[in-house]
Amino acid sequence: MNVLEVCLGDFSYPIHIGAGVMKDPELLMPHIGSGGALIVTNETIATLYLERLEQTLTGQKVATAVVPDGEAYKTLDTLAQIYDALIDNRCGRDVTIIALGGGVIGDMAGFAAATWQRGVRYVQIPTTLLAQVDSSVGGKTAVNHPRGKNMIGAFHQPVCVLADTETLHTLPPRDLRSGIAETIKYGLIRDPDFFDWMETHLPDLVGLDLDLLAEAIRRACQNKADVVAVDEREHGERALLNLGHTFGHAIETGLGHGQWLHGEAVSAGICMAADMSARMGRLRQDAVARINTLFERAGLPRRAPSTVSPDRFLELMAVDKKVLAGNLRLILLNDIGESFITSDFEPELLRATLEICRDSA
Ligand code: NAD
Ligand code: GLY
Repeated sequence: MNVLEVCLGDFSYPIHIGAGVMKDPELLMPHIGSGGALIVTNETIATLYLERLEQTLTGQKVATAVVPDGEAYKTLDTLAQIYDALIDNRCGRDVTIIALGGGVIGDMAGFAAATWQRGVRYVQIPTTLLAQVDSSVGGKTAVNHPRGKNMIGAFHQPVCVLADTETLHTLPPRDLRSGIAETIKYGLIRDPDFFDWMETHLPDLVGLDLDLLAEAIRRACQNKADVVAVDEREHGERALLNLGHTFGHAIETGLGHGQWLHGEAVSAGICMAADMSARMGRLRQDAVARINTLFERAGLPRRAPSTVSPDRFLELMAVDKKVLAGNLRLILLNDIGESFITSDFEPELLRATLEICRDSA
C-alpha cells in the first residue's frame, strides 16, 4: 500500500492507495464522527461495493443515500436527495459523509458535506480510475448547472482518501480509458518522466495490471497534492490542472452532460490545446504528434464532435470558470511537462483550432 499526504496545515489528509484499502477498518474508523456515517453512492456501485463498505464500518451507526447513476444526475435535484437522507437520519455536525463512487458521487457528496450545517467532514472512497487519480483529491466539489459544468460548488477538503485499486476490476473499459486521460494530463502539465512512463506502460494499465495502476495513481496524486498544497483555492498554479478542460467542458455542456465521458472530453480538449499551442509557436509539431499518438493508443478521442460548431464552442467557453475580467484564459503547453496559462492569444488562432480539430459532419 502507498500513503501520500496532502499538506494543508490543519486540513492535511492522507491518501491510501492499494488493493483492499476499503476493507481496512483501521484506515476508516478514525474518521467517523460520533454521529456515525452517511454513505453516498449510486445504484450501480451500491450493488457492487456497499456491503463491503458496511462490513468495514461494523459497529458504527450507518445510513445510506443511493442516488441515480450518471453525469446527467449531477444536479441540484440529486443534491436535494442527499440532504433529504441527512435530515431523515437526523444527521448533525458530527456526521461523516462517505463518498463511495466515481467523480460524480465524489463531487456531489463533497458538496453536500461542504454545505450541510455549514460543513461536516467527509471521506472519499473513489471507485473509478478518474476519481482515484484526480477528482477525489484536492477538495473541489460541485454540481452542474444545465448551462455550465461544475458551476455550483465549493472548496472543501476530505479528511481521508481511500483509493482501492480492487474496484477497478469491475470498471467498464470506457470508464478506465476516461481515467487514463486525466492520468496522462499530469505528465503533460508538469512531469515529463511520468508522460514517458505512461507511453511505456499504457498497454499494461489498460490491461488492468493493478500494481502499475497503483503506481500511476500514486504519481498522479503526488503531482496533484504538490499543486494543491501551494494553491488550494486556484489563485495561480492550480489552474494548470485544467489543461484541456476549457475545451472539454464546452464539449460536455454542448452535447448535454453525460453524452461524452469527462475524460473523453478532456482528451479531445488536450489535443485541441496542443494544436493551439503549436499555432502560437509554443509547442513543436513532434510533441503534438506524440500527444495525439498516446491518446489514440488509449482509445480516446482527439477531436471535438462535429455537432458543436466553432461559434457554439466560443459561447460555451465564455462561461468557463477561468474567465477573468471578461477574458478567456487557456491552459497551453510549451513542451511535454511544461504548461502555462494565458489570455494573450489571437482570436483567429483559437477559431482555427476549433475549425480544424473537429470531426467532419
Ligand atoms: P462517474 O462518477 O460517472 O463514474 C463512471 C461510471 O462508472 C458510472 O456509471 C459509475 O456508476 C460507474 N462506476 C464507478 N465505479 C465503478 C466500479 N468500480 N465498477 C463498475 N462501475 C463503476 O464518472 P468519473 O469518470 O468517475 O468522474 C467524472 C466526474 O468527475 C465529472 O463530473 C467531473 O467533472 C468530475 N471531476 C472532478 C474533479 C475534481 O477535482 N473535483 C476532477 C476531475 C473530474
Ligand atoms: N481537476 C482540477 C483541479 O482539481 O483543480
